[in-house]
Amino acid sequence: MARISGKCALVTGAASGLGRAIAEKLAAEGARVTLTDIDVDGGNKVAAEIGGAAQFVEQDVSDGDRWAAVWEAASRDQPVDTLVNNAGITLMGSIEDLDYASWRKTFDVDVDSVFWGCKTAIANMKQTGGGSIVNIASAAGIRANAGLAAYNAAKAAVILFTQSIALHCGQQQNGIRCNVVAPGTIKTAILDKVMAQVPNPDEMLAGFVASHPIGHLGEPEDIANIVLYLASDDSKFATGATFSVDGGLAL
Ligand SMILES: NC(=O)c1ccc[n+]([C@@H]2O[C@H](COP(=O)([O-])OP(=O)(O)OC[C@H]3O[C@@H](n4cnc5c(N)ncnc54)[C@H](O)[C@@H]3O)[C@@H](O)[C@H]2O)c1
Repeated sequence: MARISGKCALVTGAASGLGRAIAEKLAAEGARVTLTDIDVDGGNKVAAEIGGAAQFVEQDVSDGDRWAAVWEAASRDQPVDTLVNNAGITLMGSIEDLDYASWRKTFDVDVDSVFWGCKTAIANMKQTGGGSIVNIASAAGIRANAGLAAYNAAKAAVILFTQSIALHCGQQQNGIRCNVVAPGTIKTAILDKVMAQVPNPDEMLAGFVASHPIGHLGEPEDIANIVLYLASDDSKFATGATFSVDGGLAL
């Protein structure tokens, strides 16, 4: 039996990688899913492959003015009860290498997007019976790396922001839960993009594998499975929690 029949989800950054796997999983388990991304061709293709009630809507998640229209489109047939703030980028650089534009861009896409998404979700969900917000952070928001200064800071911000939101929603008794997932290294396009930024990609990949006590990298489905749990009523007592799905990376 489908685990989340009757739910309505919005997944950002769903044209590829984790967002795609999450959208596919939520749809396969019965949810109506709206996928958003800046990659219009990719997003339309994934939505068409999912079929059924899945739809794609173009969105730059860092554009705060666009969120209301996206939410309205996603709520066309029923209120959205699950928001997955997944879209993100990784720009490499230590404090000395990083320029301010890269720092700003990282925060625009990885943090401001979560601010806008959560604000929009809470304003709407509190009027429609509550819901579940799932933010995708990273093990890099828990454990630092000298070459990931902006990304470390951005993902750490998402974790504490999630906790603040969970406390607020609890105080308001508005029926909204907010949790954060901290993935380890997962084989997706973001990993290819990171490796394209360094002179020694094979060495870097071997280092990534070695840093995971479990002995291998993760698969997108590993993250989709925890998001399915958080979207479902099985997680009704979970809020403000950081779910590390990282092969032990953050230990
Ligand atoms: N893959 C990993 O190892 C890993 C590990 C930890 C956390 N994460 C996080 O998981 C999330 C998804 O990463 P992924 O590995 O699937 O990456 P990915 O590059 O495969 O997919 C990211 C998607 O986000 C979209 N996107 C980028 N900027 C956007 C914007 N401004 N507005 C809307 N969409 C935008 C891209 O077009 C792409 O489809 C990110 O938040 C990332 O930081 C990934």
